[in-house]
Amino acid sequence: MSQKIVFLGMGGTIAGKAASPDDNVGYKAAQVGVQELLAAVPGLAAVLGGWEATAEQVVQLDSKDMHNVAWRALALRAMHYLAMPDVAGLVVTHGTDTLEETAYFLSRVLPAGLLGAKPVIMTCAMRPATSQLPDGPQNMLDATVVACTPGARGVTVVCAGVVHDARHVRKVHPYRLNPFDSGEAGPLGFVEEGIVRLVHAWPAAAIAAVPSGNLESAHWPRVEIVLSHAGATGALVRSMAAHPGADPVCGIVVAGTGNGSIHQDLEAALREVQAQGVHVVRSTRCALGQIVGNPRGDVSHFGVTDLDPFKARIALMLDLMV
Ligand code: SIN
Repeated sequence: MSQKIVFLGMGGTIAGKAASPDDNVGYKAAQVGVQELLAAVPGLAAVLGGWEATAEQVVQLDSKDMHNVAWRALALRAMHYLAMPDVAGLVVTHGTDTLEETAYFLSRVLPAGLLGAKPVIMTCAMRPATSQLPDGPQNMLDATVVACTPGARGVTVVCAGVVHDARHVRKVHPYRLNPFDSGEAGPLGFVEEGIVRLVHAWPAAAIAAVPSGNLESAHWPRVEIVLSHAGATGALVRSMAAHPGADPVCGIVVAGTGNGSIHQDLEAALREVQAQGVHVVRSTRCALGQIVGNPRGDVSHFGVTDLDPFKARIALMLDLMV
């Protein structure tokens, strides 16, 4: 049976347009359809080697505005395609700003039976499609190389020739063409002259945390992130609890200082809302490493995560969904 790679479009700078080809910052993201992006990738047919490429626009968003409805749509379309025997893998084009969050979300919700056998590669660009030297076509080509690589599996991010695991990748730079970093874990590998050189094993497929039926259900629990910092107060947290609105907060991830410590005034407010039933989880605002627990016993009142605050927010939301 002939195989195919499916390209799912989510928007982003890769689909952005500027008024002038020399403008790489004053553009509007999410303007060009994924079919058009695909048509503009030189050398794609050679990489596909006889496999077919098809494309579907799932949403068209500047990824700073990413939301649960778009995530739900993406997850359901990804499951649909991955279950097809003639689909070898997916490439998702997405904005860089929240790409790491969508990648982690997909790695947690796509069934292990599918992700364990097929790859989902997220890619992006830092320059718009109208740039005189766009990076999107090369990134799409490299993502296709990964999608066609025998044994590739799990959710990965491909940008500037580097392959990252969804679990570790973070955007660390607002401008350079290689804005992602996998911290202490390092990248999974590299795409060099159309060949993948792996330095770590492909990601293990997580057991899907959420049955797809729950993903389709209307309400996803609201989880917020608060930051501890010099001069932090409990005002924001108390205000959230005092004005619940139509969608009351169910969980809070606190991005603590250093080893997850929290300003005493913020901590007091978090303990108050925790007593009212809000789930509170501690992460660290440090860019590298994770909270180190005390082997002699942890005295914290809150749960601790080894994820960064942005991924911890997703993990808590999914945990509260099951
Ligand atoms: C976005 O995240 O959609 C815009 C920025 C980018 O893709 O680099």
